Amino acid sequence: MSGRQSDVSDWWQTAIIDMAPGQIRLRGHPIEALIGTLTFPQMIWLLTRGDMPSDDQARLLEHALVAAVDHGPQAPSIAAARMAVTCGLGLNGAMATAVNMLDDVHGGAGEQAVALYEAIDGAVAGGTPLAEATAAAIDDWQSTRSRYVPGFGHRFHTPQDPRSPRLLALVDAAAEAGTVEGRFAAIGRAVEAELIARKGKPVPMNIDGATAVIYAELGFAGPLARGLFCLSRSVGALAHGWEQMQQGGRNKGPTPPAYRWRYTGPDPIDG
Ligand SMILES: CC(C)(COP(=O)(O)OP(=O)(O)OC[C@H]1O[C@@H](n2cnc3c(N)ncnc32)[C@H](O)[C@@H]1OP(=O)(O)O)[C@@H](O)C(=O)NCCC(=O)NCCS
Repeated sequence: MSGRQSDVSDWWQTAIIDMAPGQIRLRGHPIEALIGTLTFPQMIWLLTRGDMPSDDQARLLEHALVAAVDHGPQAPSIAAARMAVTCGLGLNGAMATAVNMLDDVHGGAGEQAVALYEAIDGAVAGGTPLAEATAAAIDDWQSTRSRYVPGFGHRFHTPQDPRSPRLLALVDAAAEAGTVEGRFAAIGRAVEAELIARKGKPVPMNIDGATAVIYAELGFAGPLARGLFCLSRSVGALAHGWEQMQQGGRNKGPTPPAYRWRYTGPDPIDG
């Protein structure tokens, strides 16, 4: 009988939350002690990491979360959220639709960027000079994964994504204050410089690459970088979904109906 009971209680195990009737504790802290004292970024850190960030660490995390909230209806995630609303989905469906698009190419590349930065960091720790380690990591990425290095390049913001230098300046300030070491800011800059040197034109650090610098500086694992981006972009998806609800509109596709796609099969209708 007791074996059966522990089978049930062991089915889900978590160090995140404990509850009893009238009691909720998150990572050991009573919820009533957290409400009114913790900021949302501090709560994100506490739940995902288990420990409590310093105020300065939480502020740097917040900067990354603020930067990625929205990129307008041309961003696939935001366009999808708005289209979802015109198809009758509620805000939960709009937000989920947006989040589902945040993968390797759009908004989710921070996961791989953190891994790339960590590989370079490991090589540097082993004594390889930064420029050499960066070139080798890019070579390795491009020969084994893709010619697109994660966290760099932008189809709209060239020569520079305005969010990246601002975020890196905040990392620099945090490094000066001793909140982070600044190693990953140097690595991100080295990757950007190497890509520019190779292409002979700007391949700017994008929002995924810049926020990945912050997440790596703060010690977040790569997969969490993607999850944190999803949290941030959810704010934009919520706002755009809500605005689309106010505007109305039914069954909107990605372009006005008068514009058609290029048909490439046999027997086109009009030339
Ligand atoms: C974001 C992205 C899709 C934009 O693509 P784009 O600017 O339309 O890219 P293009 O294919 O037109 O590339 C333009 C040139 O820059 C190069 N380039 C663009 N992004 C690059 C990257 N991340 N790494 C290396 N080279 C890159 C391309 O090879 C291409 O070179 P070419 O003219 O010699 O062929 C692309 O940069 C990318 O996939 N980046 C990696 C994933 C990422 O960080 N996603 C988050 C976006 S916010």
